[in-house]
Amino acid sequence: MATFLAILTATSLALAQAPTTPPSHETGRLPALGWNTWNAYHCEIDEAKVLAAAHSFVELGLKDAGYEYVNIDDCWSVKDSRDSSGRIVPDPTRFPNGIIGVANEVHDLGLKIGIYSDAGTQTCAGYPASLGNELIDVQTFAGWGIDYLKYDNCNVPSNWTDAPNPPDGDWYNSNSGIRYRRMTDALSKVSRPIQLDVCIWGQAQVWTWGARTGHSWRMSGDATPTWSYIIDIIKINVDHLDTIDFFGHNDMDMMEIGNGDLTIQEERTHFAAWAFFKSPILLGTDLSQLNSEQVAIITNKELLAFSQDPNIGTPAKPFTPRSGAGTTSPPEFYAGASSKGMHVFIMNIGSSTTTKSFRLSNVPGLSDSGRFIIHDMWTGADVDGSFTAGSTFSVRLGAHDTAAYLITEA
Ligand code: GAL
Repeated sequence: MATFLAILTATSLALAQAPTTPPSHETGRLPALGWNTWNAYHCEIDEAKVLAAAHSFVELGLKDAGYEYVNIDDCWSVKDSRDSSGRIVPDPTRFPNGIIGVANEVHDLGLKIGIYSDAGTQTCAGYPASLGNELIDVQTFAGWGIDYLKYDNCNVPSNWTDAPNPPDGDWYNSNSGIRYRRMTDALSKVSRPIQLDVCIWGQAQVWTWGARTGHSWRMSGDATPTWSYIIDIIKINVDHLDTIDFFGHNDMDMMEIGNGDLTIQEERTHFAAWAFFKSPILLGTDLSQLNSEQVAIITNKELLAFSQDPNIGTPAKPFTPRSGAGTTSPPEFYAGASSKGMHVFIMNIGSSTTTKSFRLSNVPGLSDSGRFIIHDMWTGADVDGSFTAGSTFSVRLGAHDTAAYLITEA
C-alpha cells in the first residue's frame, strides 16, 4: 500500500510540475513541405546528401512550389558521448562543417533546416537523445539555426511508460504527453521559433493532445514504399480528421514517392491524399533520381494550394457520392473546401480500371441550383460539359489512381 501511494504521489507530482506551455504560433500554421533523409538513406547520411537535396529544391522547382524544410533524421551525431558541457556533437566525419555549416548553406538558399532527436534515453538508432536534456539540446539546436525538430519515441525509460488510463482521462496528462510537453516548454525558452513534429507513431491517442504540444504528430508506425501502407494509413487517418486545422496536423509519415515499386497511379494517390488530408509532405527519396512525371506530381500547384490554403485549415472528408452507394474501407470519395471553391477527390482502391460516379448534389457545400464548372486539378484544365446539381459526373480511373477536381459555380 505504501509503495502504491508513493508511486501515486510521484506520478501526481510529475503531473503537477509538468509544463503546460503551448507550442509556438510563429511557425507550423500550415502543413510542412520539405524533405527528410530517413526514407532515402536511413543512417547513411552526410553533408553532401543533405546539401544535394537542398540544391535540388531550387533546381527542380520545389522551392518555387513551396517546399522549404530540409530535414536531417537519425544518426547525425557522435554516437556514444556528449561534449564536456553536455552538448550533443555532430559526427565530424559525416558533417565536417557541423550542422551549423549545413544550416548556413540551407538558409542561404532561402530554405529552412530540421534536426532529429528523441524523447527517451537514446534515439531509435542508439544516438544521444533529449529526455532530461531538453533545454541544453534545444539551445544547441537554436544556436545552429534549426527551424524544425522531429522528436521520436524510442528508448523510453520504464518509469515513463504510460498507465492504461491517463490522469483525468486526458492523454495530454499521460507520461507520453508529459515527455513531449517538456520539449514544447524547452522550445519556448529559445527565441528562435522551432516547429515540433511529435513522432509518436499514433500512440497515447496523440491526435487528442498533439495540437496542445506540437505542430504535427505521427499517426502510425513507419511508412514503407507499398500500396498497402498508403491504404492502411488512410484508413487510420479517416477516423481522426476532426482534429486537423491550422497549427495542428496529423502526420501520415514521410513520402515514399520515388521509392520501391509504387506505380505512377499509386504515387498520385499518395501525394493527393497527403495533400487533401493536410499531412506534412516531407519527400523521402534521392531527388536527383525522380523522373519528370514524379516531379510534376510533387509540384502540382493546385494540390499544393489545397494543402497550403491560407484561409481554410480543415482537410477533405469522406462523402457519400450517390444515393445507394456502398461503402469501402478506406472511403473512395472525399470533399473539402478551399479558398477557390469545393473540391472532390476520388480514389480507386480497386486493382482494375473502373468508372467512378458522383452526383453533384451529394457534394457537401455545393449550392443546389445553377451551373457548375468542373476543373481537373491534375491537368489544370476544365472538364468538357455543362453540369448542374442534378448531374452525375463519371470518370474512368486506373487501378489505385486518384482524380482531383475543383468545382465552382459557372
Ligand atoms: C523511427 C521513426 C522514423 C525514423 C527512425 C529513425 O522511430 O518513426 O521516421 O525517424 O525512427 O531511427
